[in-house]
Amino acid sequence: MSGLRVAVIGSGPAGVYAAAALTRAGNVAVDVLDRLPAPYGLVRYGVAPDHVKMKSVDVALRKVLERDSVRFLGNVEVGTDLTLDDLRRHYDAVLYATGAAVDRRLGVPGEDLPGSFSATDFVAWYSGHPDAVLDRFTLRARRVVVVGVGNVAVDVARVLAKTAAELSSTDVPGQVLDVLGASAVEEITMVGRRGPAHAKFTTKELRELGELANADVVVDPADLELTEADQALVDGDRTLRANLEVLRGWAGRAPEGRPRRLALRFWLRPVEVLGVDAVTALRAERTRLAGGRLVGTGETVDLPADMVLRSVGYRGLPLPGLPFDEASGVVPHAAGRVLTEGGPLPGVYVAGWVKRGPTGVIGTNKSDAAETVGTLLADADGLPRAPERDPDAVIALLCSRGVDAVEWDGWQGIDAAEQALGAARGCARVKIADRPSLLAAAHPAAHAATAAATEPAGPG
Ligand SMILES: Cc1cc2nc3c(=O)[nH]c(=O)nc-3n(C[C@H](O)[C@H](O)[C@H](O)COP(=O)(O)OP(=O)(O)OC[C@H]3O[C@@H](n4cnc5c(N)ncnc54)[C@H](O)[C@@H]3O)c2cc1C
Ligand SMILES: NC(=O)c1ccc[n+]([C@@H]2O[C@H](COP(=O)([O-])OP(=O)(O)OC[C@H]3O[C@@H](n4cnc5c(N)ncnc54)[C@H](OP(=O)(O)O)[C@@H]3O)[C@@H](O)[C@H]2O)c1
Repeated sequence: MSGLRVAVIGSGPAGVYAAAALTRAGNVAVDVLDRLPAPYGLVRYGVAPDHVKMKSVDVALRKVLERDSVRFLGNVEVGTDLTLDDLRRHYDAVLYATGAAVDRRLGVPGEDLPGSFSATDFVAWYSGHPDAVLDRFTLRARRVVVVGVGNVAVDVARVLAKTAAELSSTDVPGQVLDVLGASAVEEITMVGRRGPAHAKFTTKELRELGELANADVVVDPADLELTEADQALVDGDRTLRANLEVLRGWAGRAPEGRPRRLALRFWLRPVEVLGVDAVTALRAERTRLAGGRLVGTGETVDLPADMVLRSVGYRGLPLPGLPFDEASGVVPHAAGRVLTEGGPLPGVYVAGWVKRGPTGVIGTNKSDAAETVGTLLADADGLPRAPERDPDAVIALLCSRGVDAVEWDGWQGIDAAEQALGAARGCARVKIADRPSLLAAAHPAAHAATAAATEPAGPG
């Protein structure tokens, strides 16, 4: 029997780890499709620019995408450029690893006032995501409130606290660096709706805030007093114990007069974003836990703010042709096999955040993808073979639809162009942030020809 042809949708960690596991099994050819011209999902467009070591996981992901049995097809959106029916005609199995792209909302009045944003948008902006609006953030705000105490909140607070000089050696786009250079931010307040024993950040990430050269970290010792139940939680968990130790160290620290101030506050639940034409404050209600349930005390506090960034988690989006659980924001599945109300959807699988929700670090997606690939390979003999097996037929179909697919050499063109921009700034890479420029870097000859053809004719 001829080898299995699998389409993996999404080139983030889950998709690439799935491609790795599939091709390790032998006699499997994988196309990894992504709606973006560049690969690596949140490794490129989420992991903070100053987390250089973590970002270097792209080296391992690249090795997978460079395997002979793997083909990258960027700038191809499944659901728009190709349907699930198209995929079924060309592939024996389809594995969705499309992540959880959008933000969760607070659901409080004033959330849409100018000056109120999601951390998702802020991260996309500083990461040079092609869907981000480059002039969306001006950082004219003096006081920023970040809602949430997870690792993404820590990332955005740290980026806001750093100077442009500290970030100039990273890959942030030039326009972003200019805005960071002119930033008016003086005060950043992170707000947790529960206490420090319930914060989601991890100790290594938390500790970095205390090492900021440009900001004093401020913690109110009263916020760190633990109830008996919280003390028991902390006693039983090494990360929580370490987090508390770090926070207590800061609570005893006198500010050293650094230009910015980064405060961590707890037991405050947002009830309204205040302002008429723009954000002026976040109104929050003091909270406590009663029998494990978060309850409001009725007492409110207004935290002055010119900008509110909600960092309260990500959410998946429904995919055309696939079932979707709105409540949990994931595709229903059994060990990665997509489940409809009528039973399994033959030959269709999920991995990563679209499978288990927006939690877990990059490495979590490896075992997650391995589970799904195990399921897929166990099903393989029973899967009907796709009628159209010529790999070039997918490219021809995309061309016929006017889709400018970016193959691996195209990505290498983008990579080289970004490294050249980096060399000019004295760093390893500067991101190209808009899609037309990414596509021009991917296909320079085609774009030069188009530009020449549309140039007005010269005199004579
Ligand atoms: C801001 C942020 C920072 C993070 N930092 C770290 C960190 O420092 N360390 C760490 O270990 N973890 C970090 N994580 C967690 C880590 O990024 C995730 O665990 C991981 O990226 C999830 O992998 P995924 O492949 O499921 O999704 P993603 O990485 O989101 O990849 C999904 C891919 O699917 C593509 N896609 C979506 N829809 C379609 C479609 N219709 N057609 C084609 N392609 C599509 C997307 O373009 C994307 O490339 C961070 C997460 C966030 C949000
Ligand atoms: N360096 C790294 O390793 C790194 C960096 C970034 C992200 N990540 C990972 O990526 C995943 C996503 O991170 P994340 O920070 O987006 O999510 P997260 O870890 O789930 O944190 C979300 C935060 O938002 C709060 N929240 C949720 N709804 C709220 C509401 N309505 N009002 C107020 N607060 C609310 C949560 O509080 P409650 O707990 O009370 O719900 C929590 O503090 C995590 O697994 C994270 O570890 C890792």
